[in-house]
Formats: sequence, C-alpha cells, structure tokens
Amino acid sequence: MDISSHDVLIIGGGGAGLRAAIAVAEVNPRLNVAVISKVYPMRSHTVSAEGGAAAVIKTGDTLDDHAYDTISGGDWLCDQDAVEAFVQEAPEELLRLEHWGCPWSRDPDGHIAVRAFGGMKKERTWFAADKTGFHMLHTLFQTTLKYTAIARYDEWFVTKLLVDDNRVQGVVAIEIMSGKIQAITAKAVILCTGGCGRVFPFTTNANIKNGDGMALAYRAGAPLKDMEFVQYHPTGLPFTGILITEAARAEGGYMLNKDGYRYLQDYNLGTPQPKPVLRSMELGPRDRLCQAFVKEMEKGRTIKGPYGDVVHLDVRHLGEKLINTKLPFVRELCLKYQNIDPVKELIPVRPVVHYMMGGVSTNIHGATPLAGLYAAGEVACVSINGANRLGSNSLPELLVFGARAGRAAAEFASTQKESNGIILSQALDETKRVEAQFLEKTGGRERIATLREEMQKAMENGAGIYRTHSSLAEAAAKLRELQERFPSITLDDRSRTFNTELTAAVELGFMLDVGEAIVQSALHRTESRGAHQRTDYPKRDDEKFLAHTLIYRNADGSTHGDYLPVTITRWPPGERVYGQPAQAAQAKGG
Ligand code: FUM
Repeated sequence: MDISSHDVLIIGGGGAGLRAAIAVAEVNPRLNVAVISKVYPMRSHTVSAEGGAAAVIKTGDTLDDHAYDTISGGDWLCDQDAVEAFVQEAPEELLRLEHWGCPWSRDPDGHIAVRAFGGMKKERTWFAADKTGFHMLHTLFQTTLKYTAIARYDEWFVTKLLVDDNRVQGVVAIEIMSGKIQAITAKAVILCTGGCGRVFPFTTNANIKNGDGMALAYRAGAPLKDMEFVQYHPTGLPFTGILITEAARAEGGYMLNKDGYRYLQDYNLGTPQPKPVLRSMELGPRDRLCQAFVKEMEKGRTIKGPYGDVVHLDVRHLGEKLINTKLPFVRELCLKYQNIDPVKELIPVRPVVHYMMGGVSTNIHGATPLAGLYAAGEVACVSINGANRLGSNSLPELLVFGARAGRAAAEFASTQKESNGIILSQALDETKRVEAQFLEKTGGRERIATLREEMQKAMENGAGIYRTHSSLAEAAAKLRELQERFPSITLDDRSRTFNTELTAAVELGFMLDVGEAIVQSALHRTESRGAHQRTDYPKRDDEKFLAHTLIYRNADGSTHGDYLPVTITRWPPGERVYGQPAQAAQAKGG
C-alpha cells in the first residue's frame, strides 16, 4: 500500500480549508501541510455563497452590536466567548482578504460597501456584488499557491480517519482518478468538509455536501453538537433549490403571498415600509421567515406550483440598473434556471435546506475532544450560530475559525512524533473493507438512489421546519431500516477509474449516520428554539435546554447523547424581538 505523510492534513479545499492551510504555513513554514479534497478546490461549495460576509467596519457599528445580533438571532444557544472572538477577528480577516486581492464592492467614495442582512441591526455585510463566495474562494486559492509548503490532493476522497492511542494520525483515501486506495498519515488533521444539506431532498447545497467530515469524526468517536438545528433559507428556486440571495431582500425586495400581500407583517416582524428596515419584515431572521411560509401555506395563501407551494419574491421595483449592479447573479440564475426575468417578473421561491448550525464539537481553537483532530467552517460547531445562524455570518466564520484551527493544529503537530505501524494495519483493513463491501461484493439488490431518496423523504417529513415526537420517531425508525438495508447495496460500476458510484455509496453511508444524529438530537430536545420547532413543545425551555446537545455513536452503530452548558459571558437569555427599532429590541432582549 502507498503511504504519504504530512505534518498537518486538511480535509476539504473550500474557504475554511484554504484559510487553515495558509495559517499553518504562516505559523511554521517548516511544517509540511496538505489539502485533500474530493473536488478541485475552486469547485468547493464556498464558491456558491452569494450575499456577503458580516464584519464591523463602519462608524456607528460596534462589535457588541454584532455580537448581540448573533446571540439573539441564535436564540441564546451561541457560546458567547466564541461569538466575542468571532466579531473581534472578523474585520481583520476580511481586510486581510482585501490585501490578498478580494474585490469587495465599494461605495462611490472608495470605502468598503456594506449592505443590510437578515436579523442584523446595522448594515455590516461586505459583499462582492452577489458572487461573494466565488471571489473569496478565488482569493484564498490564489494565496495558497504562494506557499510551497502546501501540497494538494485534488479529487481524493477520504473514507476513514486513522486513530490510535486516542489520537487521530491520518486518513485512508481513494484517488478518484485511478481508484488507488492509500494511507496518508499526519500529526494533525483538520476537517473542513462543509455541511450535509444533501441529507434532505431540497437544498441549496451542492451534491458534494454529504456530511463526510461529520460522519468521519462521529465514527472515530468525536461527538456531534446541536445537530437538530437545521437552517432553511426562505428563498430557494423551486425544483433546483438554487439560492436566491437574501441580498435581494436587503436591497429592497418584497415577499408576497398569492394575493400579492406582504404577508410577513402578520408574523410579528414589523409593518411594511417602502425601504427595508433592519431586523424587520423581509429582513427578519431566517427561522422566523421560513416558519411564516409554513403558516401561510396552512392558511391556503401560497401558490401551488409543479414542485410544491411557493410565494413570490418581488424585486421589480428595484429597477434594472440596481439589479444589474448589485444582484447580477440573481438575474442570471432566474433567467437560466427559471426562465424568468426578475426585472419584469415575480420570482417563485420556497424555503430550502441551506445550512447546519450543528457539527463536530470544537472549542474556540477548532480542537475537537479527539486529540489531533480539528474542525472549522460548516462541518464544525464552535458554536457561534446557536439555534439559528444569521445570514452572512458563515463566510467570516470560516475565515476566523479556519485560521484559528490552522494555528492550533500547527502548534499541536510541532510537538508530535510520526505515526506508528498500527495505523498502517488499520489502513490496510479499511482498504479491504471498501473493496469487499463495494467493489468485489456479490449479491445484494439495494440501489444507492433508492435508499438515498427514501432517506431524504424521511428527513423532510420527520425533521423539517416543524417537528413532533411522532414525526421524528417515524424518521428514526426509517433511518434504522435504511441502515440495515445499506450493506445490501450493489454497484454496477466495479471499475477503478473515476468510479463515482463507489464514492456515492460511501457518501450514502455517511449521510445515513449524520441523518440519524439529526433525528436523535431533535427527538431529545423537547422544546422549541430557533430552527428547531416542536409543535408538541412550542415553548423555549431555558431551564432544561440552555445547553448544547452532544451525540455520540456507539460501537454497535447506536447512539447516546449528553448535554453541555452554553457559555454565557455578557448577554443573559432574553426574548427575541424583531420588527421594531433596534434599541428597543435590545433593551427587551437583554
Ligand atoms: O442569502 C444568502 O446570500 C446567503 C448567505 C448566507 O447563508 O450567509
């Protein structure tokens, strides 16, 4: 078996992974760092981020304001020490990106331009038109090319973390082009693999977002945190799930029901104004907007479409010039994928799974409880997002915590010895498992696509925007059944070259584990908070649940849970108030 070795190995070549790699190279240029990614880095999902990245930059805005918006938006489940570090470091990270070449949009006087975003009481979202993720990823990627210490494994797929002596010491990975399976040892491993939106049927997430990193960590014994908090974004295109950025509403777009009525005024989100008002109506937080959609649908005030119910996003009044300057990608996506021109027509939209607030449990340096294993970005739960992330916090999050994880992993790796031979025998076992279970298997009749579709349906029905004990219990039973059927899946393609059926099979296994973690966590949280809405427990219960859920996978595949107190520093839990002037909201909210 081939083996290669690095000091630090980063799994995932998106924003968090590339920022982590640069941090390692900067901290200690003698360290040998590698980025392994199942897609070429510029195809990572960061590329599709649209609306922007929040960080305090303008006079009149403060770090405390950003922290308060994030904490109240997260329904007080955010760890406040992490939020304080985040808001403090976000502006430096975005400025650093500027120096590395990121073309942030500008005010006419040349200063950085900012826009409003949902749940934020100040305009603080930096943007590069509505292709922010593309420009950020490009900037990071070109910066990594300056460092000869950063090696890359493009289009390699990790199937397992190698753990010995309670320490992560490397991975087993498939080179997708050749089908070669090999060990890559490392003194520290950083997971930057993004989220798991594909566990659900309708998502903004790319096909690559299958919870790989979450499942790798979970199988290796690390706990997943707050997995019950699944974010729906209020404006996805029907059928494709393509994101229509919140920036469309920040620039003044309206949400209309079938009667052309701005229905959000009926949901404690303020009264209609000609211009968007911060933390109000269309600029309320995502969880509330998605819940309002369901209520509208129940009242029969949504529009029936070929792919389910929709409402309309109206940007026509913004005019062609503004749309072309500030929302060119929205126009392009609507024209290409919906065959409508938003300059003249209403955009049909519906809530769509967008982001996981939960993930691999880490401390504020990105360290997981498993020695040698770090995580940053959407795969991780640090936790700054609590029960509901505010739009435009995830891009600065992946920079701040990507850099922090890179620095911490570099420091750890500098103190470690090379891995031992036991790791290599584990790697050999994993190679044999992948070959026997998928490539050389005889018999079995289950199809990957069938199981995947059943899983996605169970997740949507059981653990969607609203949940109950019985919907979750039903989903849990279905996922168990699918786990039992999984060993019987059979592949048509037994070849080694670009065998994407093989990677899809391994991904399905990852998704089933992550789906179970979501459902089990949701079953145990008998309250409603942020994106976790239990109609059988409609109230927030701080007495019992001002705590993070931790879920562990047992050796036999079953799960067990635990709770971890939320870190509160300066903002005691309060009521979430939107739709009124920010000052009043804060005074009420704590
Ligand atoms: O709507 C958006 O542009 C999404 C932004 C985000 O999720 O941060």
